[in-house]
Amino acid sequence: MKKTFLTLAVALTALTVHAQQDMKTFIDNLMARMTIEEKIGQLNLQVGGDITTGRPQDVEIANLVADGKVGGVFNMKGVEKIKALQDVAVKKSRLGIPLIVGMDVIHGYETIFPIPLAMSCSWDVKAVEDAARIAAKEATADGINWTFSPMVDIALDARWGRIAEGNGEDPFLGSQMAAAYVRGYQGEAPSSIAPQHLMACVKHYALYGAAEAGRDYNTVDMSHWRMYNQYFPPYKAAVEAGVGSVMSSFNIVDGQHATANRWLLTDVLRDQWKFDGFVVTDYGSIGEMENHGFGGLKYSSALALHAGTDMDMCSQGFLKTLKASLDEGQVSTDDINQACRRILEAKYKLGLFEDPYRYLDPSRRPRDIYNNVNRQKARELAAETFVLLENKNDVLPLKKTGKIALIGPLADTRDNMAGTWCVAYTPDRYSTLKEAMQRAVGKRAKVLYAQGSNITRDEALQRDAEFGKNIRRVDDLKAHEEAMKVAREADVIVCAMGECADFSGEAASRVFLEMPDVQRELLADLVTLGKPVVLLHFSGRPTILTWEKEHVDAILNVWFGGSEAADAICDVLFGDKVPSGKLTTSFPQAVGQLPLYYNHLNTGRPVAEDADRFSKYASNYFEVRNDPLYPFGYGLSYTTFEYSPVTLSADRMKADGQLTATVTVSNTGRYDADEIVQLYIHDRFATNARPVKELKGFQRIHLKKGERREVTFTVTPDLLRYYNVQLEWVLEPGDFDLFIGPDSKHLQKATFRVE
Ligand code: NOJ
Repeated sequence: MKKTFLTLAVALTALTVHAQQDMKTFIDNLMARMTIEEKIGQLNLQVGGDITTGRPQDVEIANLVADGKVGGVFNMKGVEKIKALQDVAVKKSRLGIPLIVGMDVIHGYETIFPIPLAMSCSWDVKAVEDAARIAAKEATADGINWTFSPMVDIALDARWGRIAEGNGEDPFLGSQMAAAYVRGYQGEAPSSIAPQHLMACVKHYALYGAAEAGRDYNTVDMSHWRMYNQYFPPYKAAVEAGVGSVMSSFNIVDGQHATANRWLLTDVLRDQWKFDGFVVTDYGSIGEMENHGFGGLKYSSALALHAGTDMDMCSQGFLKTLKASLDEGQVSTDDINQACRRILEAKYKLGLFEDPYRYLDPSRRPRDIYNNVNRQKARELAAETFVLLENKNDVLPLKKTGKIALIGPLADTRDNMAGTWCVAYTPDRYSTLKEAMQRAVGKRAKVLYAQGSNITRDEALQRDAEFGKNIRRVDDLKAHEEAMKVAREADVIVCAMGECADFSGEAASRVFLEMPDVQRELLADLVTLGKPVVLLHFSGRPTILTWEKEHVDAILNVWFGGSEAADAICDVLFGDKVPSGKLTTSFPQAVGQLPLYYNHLNTGRPVAEDADRFSKYASNYFEVRNDPLYPFGYGLSYTTFEYSPVTLSADRMKADGQLTATVTVSNTGRYDADEIVQLYIHDRFATNARPVKELKGFQRIHLKKGERREVTFTVTPDLLRYYNVQLEWVLEPGDFDLFIGPDSKHLQKATFRVE
């Protein structure tokens, strides 16, 4: 048996080496025939267009492609349109080099999965990998072979709208998710991508999530030590999983634009992490370098190329200036050759040279896109992502009887279910919550609906936030009255309120994170009726729910759950599914606490976690305590779980040894349910300051009611290592605290020593 494996492994390595030699020979031969202009053309990425329309901008793209001046296009939808452009590349350009065709397939294609922040709250790595696999299958059935995903930026500041696109605040969980997306998109063999998979692009390298004050595109400045420990791990995990491309970020890193930062793009990414794919800029980044004060397009382009950027998204800086820079000796032929080679390699790995029409098979659409299997998967995963924040008096799950008032601006909108960044979505086919609820209860209960309010009183703000996904604008006073009337008739009030889909996402920073004005006013009045009130809270970020926590009976955070969100919400609301999601970002009590994250360093003047008032000369605020409103890892269930104390296999561990930590988890409630068991570690004394605790393991388990199970984690040296200020990956002997529990706050503790 062992021998067979060995023979297989040797055969596979031989195959890979052979394939790499084939690729090298092929690209050597091709590049030998390319002019310098054609090589530069490969480095240019453009937004695609429908060239069959004859519109001037589309004709211009077609001409550029025919002239060999475009390496790839993106964000165009449909096999016919893409094929028309690919035809130009293959049949009209001198060497017939096919285009790489990208899209922001961020959380699904036409079957939309929950926004990535929500998906991370499932802590279900396998399900997220499956979601990426389905997205890949749908997108490739529609002509796409490259996605600008996963976005793995660690984000600690809820004001930043793009927190919606990542996996939250934790590097350990974020790394697992990053690798899962890459595996799902690219399949098992990143060196030779199968036609139902596409190339992934991890972004935004690096530190985009640390934009100051949560304002999008803003400056970033941090120590290398912090980068390596807290921000780099998910990008590195994606590279280790074999990601084919990396997108650089818009922000400054070490005073240099990320797009032109050689330390970042070459020393760290390629030399340390051994990344062997290509680097693309973000949209117009090279052009934006002028605003940052680095010089004009020509200078910035040369700087970016030299730093390790291979492809220029939409600045046309490479296309328009690199030849002149080459003639003047500002860049070298080697720089251009290297970038061109990397892009051609990507096309080779995608099989585009073998068959440029490989992803353009029109027969796949009806089979592969938005089919029932995919939709079912999306519905199941969505239900796993909802986080039950409150459930006083076990108000939830609701019974499918009586009269249910469904109220709020998110109750009857189709466009807003899927969330931000769904370029290929087809909302006309998605259900509104109202429709799904009527379907779920059938004739057994009556759904009384009222919109109740606008998203916000300020019409202009609502328009900006909606970004085209319009919710009917109503007269707030009349809508409020109507909702109160409906609520008075009902037995229970279900409110669908919060953010609209594009209130988070790119260019969606906010300074007020409370429930917007008119919605809160309505909610406050509904609560006075004395009936059970359930808040289905839509959001793309952690928001401030301090008032709601106190006044509302149940809060289910439903994020933006994708194309099947409405059915999934009803599954959980009526108890066909038991909620199991847990937060991957801390929910603050007040905006003034931001940035807020559980794995912070200690201060010399800490306050006790359970302090109930301000303490002078300690590290705290006057008005609220340091705790979040809801901590990282938190989420309730319809059942209850009990945790036993932790037992360790030993209280000492050798630096090259390992030990195990075990708890017994019991389902003590009335429902079969999933629980996410979490392991945290704290390095008590070290050469450098260490976080108060860090997630180092988690397991999603299923327990029937009354069932109990031992859950064991293995603690290995790698879980205890960190980067010291010399950036060495060290394990330092000494005492460690180990915690296991249902969230980052309610933990069972044990200690051990590393010798
Ligand atoms: C800008 C965004 O920052 C990035 O995430 C996206 O992939 C590109 N635009 C392309 O649409």
